[in-house]
Amino acid sequence: MIGQSSNALLKVLILVPLLLTAVVMQATEVSDAMLEEFSVEATGPFSVQAGLATWSAPQPNGRSCESCHGESLFVTGSHYKTGELIEPMAPSVNPERLTERRKINKWFLRNCKWTYGRVCTAQEKGDILLWLSQQ
Ligand code: HEC
Repeated sequence: MIGQSSNALLKVLILVPLLLTAVVMQATEVSDAMLEEFSVEATGPFSVQAGLATWSAPQPNGRSCESCHGESLFVTGSHYKTGELIEPMAPSVNPERLTERRKINKWFLRNCKWTYGRVCTAQEKGDILLWLSQQ
């Protein structure tokens, strides 16, 4: 019995803030918090120019972040392989962008591996996130 009620209390304590953040969070709130965390491991301050350069630089394998997200962050891109449409990346036209930490981390991991053949450094993620968050 004690176990059950404290379990319920625990659920409330965890779920209520989660629901609130889901509703209230803006792109910059989430990305600012993540930038703060990336900066701990980064080698220098983050830069918008470096973010853009990292995003668009073609790799020896011909891949770049633009392969799927397209040359403009403000229009719909399409997946390199599947042709599946990808909503615009710029938070100014797509307010759902950069509002979910889990999603951002998941796709950084997956897309860096696909594009660069390795995970991105904290510096690269910070540069890209800073630049993306301002679009
Ligand atoms: C092979 C195709 C592909 C490539 C290349 C690619 N992405 Fe993505 N990316 C996706 C897909 C698919 C999604 C998830 C669908 C969506 O969010 O529209 C996504 C979503 C994301 C998101 C989540 C954004 C959000 O908050 O909704 C981030 C961040 C991201 N990509 C970063 C990158 C970076 C950085 C690169 C280059 C290193 C990159 N992507 C290259 C396919 C790709």
